[in-house]
Amino acid sequence: MVPVRPPTETSPMLSELLLTEMTRLRLRDSMPLHRQLYEAMRRALLDGKLGAGDRLPSSRELTQDLKLSRNTVVAALNQLTVEGYLVSRVGSGTYVNDTLPRATTNQRSAHAPSHVARLSQRGTALSSTFCANQLEIQPFAPGVADFSAFPVALWQRLQNKHWRMTYPEMLDYSYSGGHAPLRRAVADYLRVFRSVPLEVEQVIITSGTQQSLELCAQLLADHGDTVWLEDPAYWGAVKAFMATGLRTHGIRVDEEGMAPTDTDQLHPPRLIYTTPSHQYPTGAVMSLPRRQQLLALARTHDAWILEDDYDSEFRFSGPPLSSLAGLDQDQRVLYLGSFSKVLYPGLKLGYLVVPKRLVASFRQAHYDLNRPGQMPLQAALAEFIEFGHFASCLRRARHSYAQRRQHLLEALQPCLERQAYISGAEQGLHLCLRLPTAIDDKALALRIGALGLVVRALSAYCIERTDARGLVIGYGYAALADIEKYGPILANAICTELDRLR
Ligand SMILES: Cc1ncc(COP(=O)(O)O)c(C=O)c1O
Repeated sequence: MVPVRPPTETSPMLSELLLTEMTRLRLRDSMPLHRQLYEAMRRALLDGKLGAGDRLPSSRELTQDLKLSRNTVVAALNQLTVEGYLVSRVGSGTYVNDTLPRATTNQRSAHAPSHVARLSQRGTALSSTFCANQLEIQPFAPGVADFSAFPVALWQRLQNKHWRMTYPEMLDYSYSGGHAPLRRAVADYLRVFRSVPLEVEQVIITSGTQQSLELCAQLLADHGDTVWLEDPAYWGAVKAFMATGLRTHGIRVDEEGMAPTDTDQLHPPRLIYTTPSHQYPTGAVMSLPRRQQLLALARTHDAWILEDDYDSEFRFSGPPLSSLAGLDQDQRVLYLGSFSKVLYPGLKLGYLVVPKRLVASFRQAHYDLNRPGQMPLQAALAEFIEFGHFASCLRRARHSYAQRRQHLLEALQPCLERQAYISGAEQGLHLCLRLPTAIDDKALALRIGALGLVVRALSAYCIERTDARGLVIGYGYAALADIEKYGPILANAICTELDRLR
């Protein structure tokens, strides 16, 4: 039972503490305000700056002291209550849960170990840059597909069937690069739809693009080698390369995709990571001359190209684009795909197509490093594709995403009548709204976050360049009703910012 105590006397002190912590978090990355407040309070609780049983100032007082909106304060308090840090007592107020261990909530002894673990330099860099904990599932969160539409009942039936048919080998690690029928299904799909010339043996099933990237970095580059990435870039790739000790060198992206210059060649690459069919996050489609330039540069530098074809399935207009791997004459391109977007991210299955000369080494290393498995799951997925369910999911998703994109564009029309424009192709699950360089897009994303909407600042994806401003706005998870309801709020926040520049 929570003891009733008088309201804490430390309201101004608490506010000051919370504001300091929030400023620190804001400098570190672009968390939404309610998330910053939540984190700041959670830390105050864990550090014992708020003791078990303490009564918190009311949300009205916190709103005033912190100069935040009531919604932001209430969202943070609610989250802490749901997680059990706080308890709310009707008519009495909100208290620190007295089941939190005293050792952590009350005065910590000077000899007590710090709760901040000592990380390696790499660990510090990895955990203090753009991070996945910002990936809240919200209508406009980029990169999130509508997995709520996944045919769960059908999937369950297929899984049950394959579990019933399972034989002991299916429960073992998988040595051969994955379940053969799934590798065949992937190869058939890639040959027909992505013009990737390949044999089934070249397909290796992984636990998604992240693992494919790590494997490529581990096997094809040494510590300190340079990897060229698009600037701005997909943060997951940046992290995979940081984690494997590679030097990242950003190559500017323009409307024709990655644009390497003579100066870039002073940093010869061992790997080149690219998203040519729909650059993440600007949406640029790599032109044919650029594709040829990239292949020629890879030959000059004896480098490997990692082609991440992450959302090529969702192209809404224009002719289908063939892959870079399809143009590759000398087997330098490794092709990476994922089921995260078409099916659901937690499935954790993807594929890597490696040149024939790499097959044996990749299979062996994948087995030794990752101990891949999940064969019954892979068998169910193979049948899902074979029986046409994958194609139906794709058809449905393509139609629904095209509609969502159109609705979002309509909602953003007032911004497009000012100095904003959309870059990139009509494809995928997000769009990139480009803004004038005078706009602080990180601050704008934060302000939009305070309205309860998650979008991301384009500059947060930049490696070296400082001139890219915009917002990366998802629509994959946004139901039409949500776009209609929240789209104008989003547009209004952006227009207010644009109008300030006038
Ligand atoms: C550019 C890009 N590649 C790949 C992926 C998918 O990665 P995974 O298969 O690890 O889920 C994503 C997910 O957001 C992405 O944005």
